[in-house]
Amino acid sequence: MPKTIRALIQSPEPGKMAVAQAPAPIPGRGQVLVEVKVSAVNEMDVQVRAGLWAKNVKAFLKRGPVVTGFEFAGIARSDGGRIKAGDRVIGYVNVLSGPRTHAGQVCVDETDIEVIPQSWSLDDAAALVVMGLTAVEILERLAPVSPGKRVLIIGAAGGVGVYTLQLAKHQGAHVTVVCSERNAAWMKSMGANAVRAYETEPNFKTGDLFDVVVDVPCKESFAASAPFLARGGMYVGTNPLADLGGFVRAAFSSRRAGYLMMLTTTPAKLRRLIELAALGALRPAIDSRFPLSQADQAFDRFETRGKQGRVLLKIED
Ligand SMILES: NC(=O)c1ccc[n+]([C@@H]2O[C@H](COP(=O)([O-])OP(=O)(O)OC[C@H]3O[C@@H](n4cnc5c(N)ncnc54)[C@H](OP(=O)(O)O)[C@@H]3O)[C@@H](O)[C@H]2O)c1
Repeated sequence: MPKTIRALIQSPEPGKMAVAQAPAPIPGRGQVLVEVKVSAVNEMDVQVRAGLWAKNVKAFLKRGPVVTGFEFAGIARSDGGRIKAGDRVIGYVNVLSGPRTHAGQVCVDETDIEVIPQSWSLDDAAALVVMGLTAVEILERLAPVSPGKRVLIIGAAGGVGVYTLQLAKHQGAHVTVVCSERNAAWMKSMGANAVRAYETEPNFKTGDLFDVVVDVPCKESFAASAPFLARGGMYVGTNPLADLGGFVRAAFSSRRAGYLMMLTTTPAKLRRLIELAALGALRPAIDSRFPLSQADQAFDRFETRGKQGRVLLKIED
């Protein structure tokens, strides 16, 4: 085993990153060493690059120099209880306290990992992990829908949105999406029944009553969505802190509010994701792939409007 690994290191000066050698991690009790082949870029990563999350970054730095990345597809390089060295695996580490994954190796709690089918490519697997799990959380826990129910997804072309769209269709819903004009045809091809372009239809919620409104960018709120929700319908926001008043208003309303707080995973949740993908209910959506040496460009791409799904980071150049 190598003594050092390639790793993405943030400079103390916000906005700067570089690939450098870092000490190889050593698995602790209950952990598995994973060779990371593919990871992805998330909102928290670009915020860390911009200098936010300082307290969490301080905690990450106690483990090692890597402070971005919380998902991976790769190869197990040590034995756990369930997981064996050589298994092809995916995983999702604790967002606030887990190790970071933009590096050649990571030591992960075995409970955060699952084996993937041999037929899956590691790119497809990495593209599915976090945002596929998020869609499952939204539509199997927070706001399940039955056939014919009407769902509105605001921001449907990004990571959360594209998998939520697919899963809502799998559950038999009629799905209206809000996205940029340039992504309208792609959203149709992913199964959307109706597409509203935010540039030309700023009043995109009018006209229908929805059973579920999924507000990915959290530009709306429970209060703004309630008039467009059917009785008993639910507003789902991806950031509970962006709509604190929504909790209170929903308690006194015939409409409901649900907020995502998906900080960890379990083997059962990962197995459910794998099962849904095997059924064809979730198909990987990859916007772009970048080698680790071009991580800055990958982060920039994540921040560019008009993406179609996930931005992948390939650890081996
Ligand atoms: N709380 C949790 O547990 C949890 C879990 C997962 C994700 N999240 C959060 O969910 C958010 C989305 O993540 P993501 O990976 O899906 O991000 P993403 O890939 O960047 O997707 C965001 C989408 O929102 C759209 N959008 C942005 N502003 C908009 C506006 N004003 N009107 C309509 N659409 C707009 C974007 O469309 P354009 O590109 O066309 O602008 C894009 O398709 C992030 O903030 C992330 O942190 C939270």
